[in-house]
Amino acid sequence: MNLAMTMTQMNKEISLIEERIKEVTNTDNQMITTAANHLIDAGGKRIRPIFVLLSSQFGQANQDEIINVAVALELIHMASLVHDDVIDFASVRRGQPTVNEKWNNGTAIYTGDFIFARTLELLKSFKNSRLHQVLSNTMHELCIGEIDQIRDKYRMNQNLLTYMRRIKRKTALLISSSTEMGALAANVDEHHVKLLKKYGYYIGMSYQIIDDILDFTSTEKELGKPVGNDLINGNLTLPALLALDDPDIYQSIEKIFTSSKREQEEIEQLINKIKTSENIERAYQFSQAYLRKAFQVLEKLPDIEAKVTLKQIAVYLSKRKH
Ligand code: IPE
Ligand code: IPE
Ligand code: MG
Ligand code: MG
Repeated sequence: MNLAMTMTQMNKEISLIEERIKEVTNTDNQMITTAANHLIDAGGKRIRPIFVLLSSQFGQANQDEIINVAVALELIHMASLVHDDVIDFASVRRGQPTVNEKWNNGTAIYTGDFIFARTLELLKSFKNSRLHQVLSNTMHELCIGEIDQIRDKYRMNQNLLTYMRRIKRKTALLISSSTEMGALAANVDEHHVKLLKKYGYYIGMSYQIIDDILDFTSTEKELGKPVGNDLINGNLTLPALLALDDPDIYQSIEKIFTSSKREQEEIEQLINKIKTSENIERAYQFSQAYLRKAFQVLEKLPDIEAKVTLKQIAVYLSKRKH
């Protein structure tokens, strides 16, 4: 059961969004249609569309336009996942083989580009130019975030600041764009747009930190994607970054990162060591700190039903296991 399904009041809109996504990605090319449908049907939490819908409830929403904004956000997310799985050498996503695994890297790159292009076609219906500005800015920042991650692979001299800046770009901005664009499209009061954008940003930071923790602590069955992959790929995420304070772990990571021959067993032992260390709890504390900020921002928003749901989502995310 996905998050959307737990929120029965939004099931109708989520189904509409999924149908629209299929329409938008439909093409004569059987392979692309199959690849796109494959990813949609595999599920996903649909967290970005949910944020668009909820934020729009703080204003006067034109249902069609809001649905299109939600579709655009989920499409960009999907395209970035297809590309991300190439750079992360991932073979499973949402419990299904990735596009790069089922077909190949070239196909995945163009499937991602195709989804981006179709999103642009959808955007031409948006009259509010700020929607275009927000989205194009987020898309280019997301690319920088992913490229920074490639640049920083196997690099030891990283710190909290470089990590936070990277996850802001690759994840938090797309989530803050979801709350901001949902609000903008519904002509929400400017002050409230800013608050919703902030809420999305704090949730987004917390979301990626939890994703990075789950990469250590969860299982492929639960996540529907490979675990342990971050460290195997040379990505120093928060639990590993914090673990560098331990001289033994520092040495092990340095050895693995600088050695040309990477011993699988050694990496597995290291992952296990980090997984059972206090650094998981320390990383959770960072995620909780962002969530607390998200709750504080929510307090300043008008007391409507959507606000209660946004609170419930923050609680749900703090406990998420997939
Ligand atoms: C995965 O996003 C990538 C991150 C930004 C952590 P989600 O966890 O939202 O993936 P789906 O859409 O539910 O599959
Ligand atoms: C988020 O990072 C990916 C994007 C922003 C596209 P991850 O690489 O951690 O995401 P997963 O774990 O593959 O879903
Ligand atoms: Mg990845
Ligand atoms: Mg991850």
